[in-house]
Amino acid sequence: MKKVMEIAYDQLTPENLRVIHELTHALTTVGDEENVLNKILDRLIQETGAEIGAFIYYDAQRDAFVPRMIRGAGGEDSPRFSQTIFRKVLETRDAVLSFDVLAEQDFQVSQSIITNEIHAVLAFPLIVEGRLYGIMYFDSRHNRQKFNEAARQLLSFFAPIASLTLEHILKKREVENKNVILQKQVDSSLGIPNIIGETPVMKRLFQLIRKVARTDASVLLTGENGTGKDLVARAIHDLSPRKNKPFIAQYIGNIPSTILDSELFGYKKGAFTGATTDRVGLFEAVNGGTLFLDEISELPPELQTKLLRVLQNKEIIRLGENLVRKIDVRIIAATNQNLVELVKNGKFREDLYYRLNVINIHLPPLRDRKEDIPLLVDYFLKRESEGREVTITKAAMRKLMNYNWPGNVRQLENIIRRALILAEGDVIDVDDIQLDEMDVPKFEGTLEEFKNQLIIQRLKEFNGNKTRAAKSLGISLRTLQQKAKELGL
Ligand SMILES: Nc1ncnc2c1ncn2[C@@H]1O[C@H](COP(=O)(O)OP(=O)(O)OP(=O)(O)O)[C@@H](O)[C@H]1O
Ligand SMILES: [Mg+2]
Repeated sequence: MKKVMEIAYDQLTPENLRVIHELTHALTTVGDEENVLNKILDRLIQETGAEIGAFIYYDAQRDAFVPRMIRGAGGEDSPRFSQTIFRKVLETRDAVLSFDVLAEQDFQVSQSIITNEIHAVLAFPLIVEGRLYGIMYFDSRHNRQKFNEAARQLLSFFAPIASLTLEHILKKREVENKNVILQKQVDSSLGIPNIIGETPVMKRLFQLIRKVARTDASVLLTGENGTGKDLVARAIHDLSPRKNKPFIAQYIGNIPSTILDSELFGYKKGAFTGATTDRVGLFEAVNGGTLFLDEISELPPELQTKLLRVLQNKEIIRLGENLVRKIDVRIIAATNQNLVELVKNGKFREDLYYRLNVINIHLPPLRDRKEDIPLLVDYFLKRESEGREVTITKAAMRKLMNYNWPGNVRQLENIIRRALILAEGDVIDVDDIQLDEMDVPKFEGTLEEFKNQLIIQRLKEFNGNKTRAAKSLGISLRTLQQKAKELGL
């Protein structure tokens, strides 16, 4: 690298220093390769009055120069570049000034130079990890005042700074790319703590959870009772950058609207009778963290409107106050209802549905992933047996596998707890597995009467909610409606 030291520092003018300063400063404010190269091209075209500025990538393997970025070509569609000058830069690894090319002794007169009538060229190398990465190239056929030795020296001086910036950016990108790949591998190979499952549907779920956790997007968790919605909400928070901030779950179902309102939004002293002090609402308390709204389908209409506003504006107003407070809260909502159906029936705001359902995570019912039952059984046995080494017989396991689990994982968890109590010694056998027949009292009537009884009981259980009752009975809403009518309900 013979020429590096040939800069005549005493010839650097204040104007040169200004340019160096500006260029260097410009480089520190950009983050990617293309921006850096564009900035250099634009600034130097301006500075030198060049007509064309280009970045020429050097493909070392093929020993070829590939124009990648061309600026200010002024209407000419594809300028031809002088290979001679590229070679010269490659060889000297220093800025090259070629001035009145035809007369310049340094160059063999090449055909491309003659045909393009290049009058003045300035080029300098970008060196990355000791190798020529590419060439910054400026050429001017008309305005060549600033294409002089001083400019060449200036570029000689600037080239290592530009190279270093580029090297830094390329290295950073390489690391980022590697991170993305590693993250992807981790996502697909790792499970989620406390969430058990190895079936493909669960593996896909784990990947989705990890991906979603890195974002701030609102998530809607759907799935039957006991499928693990609470568990997933918590996992998303724990895997997110918000993990050290609060996670609060608020149950929406069956809570009177006014109480829920003050719970979520807080209030000012005197806002209503009983508001004896100021109170912070959950949105504020959880600031920076995650708020989990469980059974979101039960949200009363007036609160649906308020929640929509929170999601849109990221601000809240306490009851009885005018002050608008900015909040930063990630919302995860869960429901075992068909929200789309509720939207259709006008029970749930459509705009709110879309705001909440930015990402939908659906939890499969246990009957659709029965292969996971042995794994879950093992997990619950270990967790609940307080150190006892308990095993389960093949017949008992078969019984579990053949059941259809209307209550999903929660039901399995309960049945294992029961089995641990019932089991003699450290072996769980078929009789220790008491499926929910156990909950059905002895019945003396006919099958028809039993069915009717069950319908009445379920409707009561679900507070008259026919959709949910029908679902839990495994029959269509229509059938249930018909039956209910027959029974005079
Ligand atoms: N994949 C799983 N691995 C381990 N435990 C699970 C899994 N899924 C659910 N559970 C357990 O089952 C029980 C019910 O789960 P969870 O409360 O998350 O369900 P849910 O979908 O929120 O139910 P609901 O709709 O009734 O609120 C919990 O004790 C939970 O720990
Ligand atoms: Mg739940």
